[in-house]
Amino acid sequence: MTLRAIVRGVGHYLPDRIVPNSEFEATLDTTDEWIKTRSGIECRHFAAPDEFTSDLGTKAAQAALDMAGLSANDIDAVIVATSTPDMTFPSAATMIQEKLGMERGFAFDVQAVCAGFVFALANANGMIMSGQANRVLVIGAETFSRILDMTDRGTCVLFGDGAGAVILEGQDTDADRGILGVDLNSDGRYRDMLYVDGGMTSGQTGFIKMQGNALFRQAVEKLASTADAALLKAGKTHEDVDWIVPHQANIRIIQGTAKKLGVSMDKVVVTVQDHGNTSAASIPLALSIGVQRGQIKPGDLLVAEAIGGGLAWGAVVLRW
Ligand code: COA
Repeated sequence: MTLRAIVRGVGHYLPDRIVPNSEFEATLDTTDEWIKTRSGIECRHFAAPDEFTSDLGTKAAQAALDMAGLSANDIDAVIVATSTPDMTFPSAATMIQEKLGMERGFAFDVQAVCAGFVFALANANGMIMSGQANRVLVIGAETFSRILDMTDRGTCVLFGDGAGAVILEGQDTDADRGILGVDLNSDGRYRDMLYVDGGMTSGQTGFIKMQGNALFRQAVEKLASTADAALLKAGKTHEDVDWIVPHQANIRIIQGTAKKLGVSMDKVVVTVQDHGNTSAASIPLALSIGVQRGQIKPGDLLVAEAIGGGLAWGAVVLRW
């Protein structure tokens, strides 16, 4: 018998307000056609003025708890991947802990931008393997609409808000299930490629700054290599993969990475058209919607891969 971190539940939440590409045509020199062709994005959700990351994360978490048939006090730890917490501190995770009515365990945030959910899954897996926690609620939640410069057409059309959550549980099993391989990377020399010009250095929240073209080239290369590394660590090959669940930044990055991995697009969960880039929320959103659509089924081998500011990138191989 081997201890494995196995998925017990998944859920997501999207704010009510849907913003189609056409909304940007009124204020920016852009078109629906340009955005769709260059990024694959058709619309995204934006949070209401009184709706923050912890609100989105709480709803996604509750959906995952409902699916698992668990209550908040059955959870040992909450890890929230986010770059847009409600406040500088406390963590979004402790706010979600309170909103869920959870009166035990511990909670903290992980900040690895768009790769955050992969880093959070790796953290949860490590905690389960070390005996620190048995049931871990892993949430990716973002309100990137609050750090968008709505006059910068190169960035503001690409991002959206949302949240997704997964519950991992440690189980002793003979089965080839749960998290099987993890690969994490970062390289701070690329920090200028994607950052927010805010925080302690400026005294303001700041806005996203991005070198889109340069980042695009790094993304395909690094996503394919981290997916390969995670598969190798899991003792699996490309042929074993049922679904790639990529970070949903740009359809052309998703297609380029799948091609490099030799996996056909009918084995890739794609949601970017409906949500845009929701940063750390994008993979758990895609997992939840992939299950809802009937794409991801028990026993399927998944590779989740993501890259974001830092740069930070990584992949997780898991059997659903
Ligand atoms: N509408 C119309 N034109 C736009 C535009 C928009 N919303 N945004 C940029 N452009 C213009 C540029 O200004 C440029 O014009 P110029 O040639 O006159 O200077 C032209 O379109 C081409 O820009 P370029 O950056 O070469 O386009 P691209 O094909 O690389 O696509 C991105 C731009 C941003 C969609 C693409 O680079 C990308 O997706 N990069 C990765 C971004 C990403 O995923 N970031 C998050 C990672 S976690």
